[in-house]
Amino acid sequence: MAKPFVAGNWKMNTSISEAIKLARALRPALSGIDGVTRVICPPFISLAGVSAEFVGSDIKVGAQNMHSEPKGAFTGEIAGAMLKDVCDYVILGHSERRQLLGEQDDFINAKVRAALEIGLTPILCVGETLDQREAGNAGTVVEGQLQGGLRDVSAEDIGRSVVAYEPVWAIGTGRAATPEMAQEMMGLIRYEVARLSHIEIAGNVPLLYGGSVNAENAAELAEQRDLDGALVGGASLKADDFAAIAKAFATRA
Ligand code: PGA
Repeated sequence: MAKPFVAGNWKMNTSISEAIKLARALRPALSGIDGVTRVICPPFISLAGVSAEFVGSDIKVGAQNMHSEPKGAFTGEIAGAMLKDVCDYVILGHSERRQLLGEQDDFINAKVRAALEIGLTPILCVGETLDQREAGNAGTVVEGQLQGGLRDVSAEDIGRSVVAYEPVWAIGTGRAATPEMAQEMMGLIRYEVARLSHIEIAGNVPLLYGGSVNAENAAELAEQRDLDGALVGGASLKADDFAAIAKAFATRA
């Protein structure tokens, strides 16, 4: 079974000083929840400062995006090698980037491969829109995103990755998927990850659910068989709420 895993995606929130303040509140709140991998993903500009706050703890830090190229003329972009100095994880293919910034599977796949090559753990996000779900295409869409995102990634490297299922209609809406709905898709994702790698490898890949996870619904979600953790947006900006979510997943350990 994959080790429980919670990641906080701060998105485009917090100034540098607010980020440091939140990190200082999170450090004690998250201490002692040892059976759960805990990752904090602040904006790029606060990565170094937040990382420094967690030195000597086992709280990890991640970025929210990176470019696929190692360096060069890509104004405004950040390369994996730059991130490697300050963090261990990187969120890739988040639906906000797919939808608002036009990112597609090929580009996301290039980023996943670049992240793995440099030694960063990708948190690959997949998930269907409401229209796609209502048309009965949720499974096909998610399978396609997994195949596209993990194309030409070795079984071993898939085993070093994290997958987050975030239905677009549940993100930031306060309307989380029901635990049964989330489990149904997680089972399908586990199967697809196994098909792309190996059944034993897939069993150890943390599968996260994301979309309106909060301190109240986390325990019910954590009971689901293939739901190893959560990718948390809004509720990760409150130290106590995020800690409560991490604790809910600790019961799986
Ligand atoms: P939310 O965001 O928890 O605010 O719904 C989740 C995410 O987008 O990662």
